[in-house]
Amino acid sequence: MENIYLPKLAEIKEIIQETADTKTIRLTIDGKSIDFLPGQFGEFSLIGEGESTFGFSSSPLRKEYFEFSFRTSGRATTGINGLNEGDKLAFRGPYGNYFDTSKMHGKDIVFVGGGIGMAPVKSIMEYCLDERDKYGKITILYGARTVGDLLYKNIFEEWKNHKDTEFVVTVDPGGETPDWKGKVGFVPTILEQLPLKGENSIAVVCGPPIMIKFALKTLEEKMGFSKENIITTLENRMKCGLGKCGRCNVGSVYVCKDGPVFTAKELESLPNDF
Ligand SMILES: Cc1cc2nc3c(=O)[nH]c(=O)nc-3n(C[C@H](O)[C@H](O)[C@H](O)COP(=O)(O)OP(=O)(O)OC[C@H]3O[C@@H](n4cnc5c(N)ncnc54)[C@H](O)[C@@H]3O)c2cc1C
Ligand code: FES
Repeated sequence: MENIYLPKLAEIKEIIQETADTKTIRLTIDGKSIDFLPGQFGEFSLIGEGESTFGFSSSPLRKEYFEFSFRTSGRATTGINGLNEGDKLAFRGPYGNYFDTSKMHGKDIVFVGGGIGMAPVKSIMEYCLDERDKYGKITILYGARTVGDLLYKNIFEEWKNHKDTEFVVTVDPGGETPDWKGKVGFVPTILEQLPLKGENSIAVVCGPPIMIKFALKTLEEKMGFSKENIITTLENRMKCGLGKCGRCNVGSVYVCKDGPVFTAKELESLPNDF
């Protein structure tokens, strides 16, 4: 029987330095991507340094590699930050539930990402852009604290150039540079200014908890999105990733197994301790 805790070795094909403290790493196993779905995550480890949880940031329809973006914050991520192209990284997964794109077909979608939370949004968003004709109007709103904190700047043009797709990028007040051409304002404030209606629409939101809180409020109370049509992901700290250790649970819900993707309606029924 396969040992569910046993990692596989993935090879680093490409490293993209996104910002001063954040990188995107593209990996392959046996020369190609693995099977996963947008919203799922993996456990990535470096021997002697530890294991870290990262959501996938690439579209699963792109088969040449799978990708995650990470911010260096502690021991494991400092170790991963020191790796080079050609090095190996141990990987377990994919784990968790996923964004159910079949429920999004024919609907308008707004993707809202803040900071490193744009990573899982990128996966589902590029998945939808890869099958553009299945969806209605697509709006992408991405915000970071400063211009220097924006990830994925090298592919902004690619996102903009899809039909019936609007891309809006913003930085927090004070985070702009003299040549900044995007918006200035917190994500929920800019969201409220967009010409969106909740009817026949889905919102996918991921970012820091404070951004999620106000973005959900704006979508529901000011834009008419129903709780069932607002989808987000949680990032509770994890250990096993498999529903075994109890590290990630909120009440009886295991974020690693029942999540990390939840609708705003589902979040409403969770105890308020996450
Ligand atoms: C489902 C899921 C998806 C995630 N996706 C990403 C991703 O795409 N990119 C990314 O950079 N990070 C992501 N994270 C967070 C990431 O797992 C941690 O930042 C990382 O494991 C820290 O490892 P470390 O050993 O370097 O730091 P540690 O030494 O363990 O911690 C360093 C600092 O980070 C904080 N921290 C650690 N884990 C978390 C967490 N889960 N949430 C908030 N703060 C944390 C610690 O409190 C501490 O302040 C995700 C977490 C989960 C649960
Ligand atoms: S991380 Fe172990 S139960 Fe969720």
